[in-house]
Amino acid sequence: MPEPPFDVPRLPAGDSLALRPWTLADLPLVEEASGDPYIPLITTVPSAYSHAAGVAFVERQWDRAAHGTGWPFVVERVADGRAVGTVGLWSAPHARASAGYWVAPSARGGGAALAGLRAATAWAFAALGLARVELYVEPWNTASRRTAESAGFRPEGLLRSWQEVGGARRDMLMYARLPTDPVG
Ligand SMILES: CC(C)(COP(=O)(O)OP(=O)(O)OC[C@H]1O[C@@H](n2cnc3c(N)ncnc32)[C@H](O)[C@@H]1OP(=O)(O)O)[C@@H](O)C(=O)NCCC(=O)NCCS
Repeated sequence: MPEPPFDVPRLPAGDSLALRPWTLADLPLVEEASGDPYIPLITTVPSAYSHAAGVAFVERQWDRAAHGTGWPFVVERVADGRAVGTVGLWSAPHARASAGYWVAPSARGGGAALAGLRAATAWAFAALGLARVELYVEPWNTASRRTAESAGFRPEGLLRSWQEVGGARRDMLMYARLPTDPVG
């Protein structure tokens, strides 16, 4: 594990996407995500968008890297540089990290989260020497479960009443991938 502060590199993600750090040019992505019914419930994306709230969100991503709590990536479409979503790795003890991802509603259906998750996880194992990447998915969230499974993550169990989401306790499926697991 590298010592903090962490660097967020630019990485290829499949044929047409790339992972890169957040910039203030990504505010339209934050604004679109604010209008999604679910993303603000599970992230710090503001549910009521304003320019100031969007800037504060991007600054929180910079702080995470600067203070060593994680590696927040934007998923960018290489052809036009458009930011379509995000993948983040959040540092945990014992050479572990947890992953999270979301895609702008207008960019869904193209496997952006899958390409981003594959790239971030491969980098975490190769460059950071992590032993395990975990992620948590609500059982109803088929698109996220498919994304995790296609990226080689395996379900390890149902975590009952794991966290509060939108004011109610929710169960979460825990998925994990080890460096020795097949890519999927
Ligand atoms: C989860 C999310 C990132 C997936 O977006 P995406 O990368 O565009 O994924 P896709 O739309 O390509 O869907 C991935 C797979 O799920 C399937 N899928 C998508 N929506 C589905 C639905 N409502 N019911 C069943 N299957 C669905 C797709 O057909 C695809 O299947 P495939 O692997 O067989 O091709 C996106 O839905 C999202 O941002 N959701 C809100 C935030 C969220 O839930 N994040 C994850 C938290 S754990």
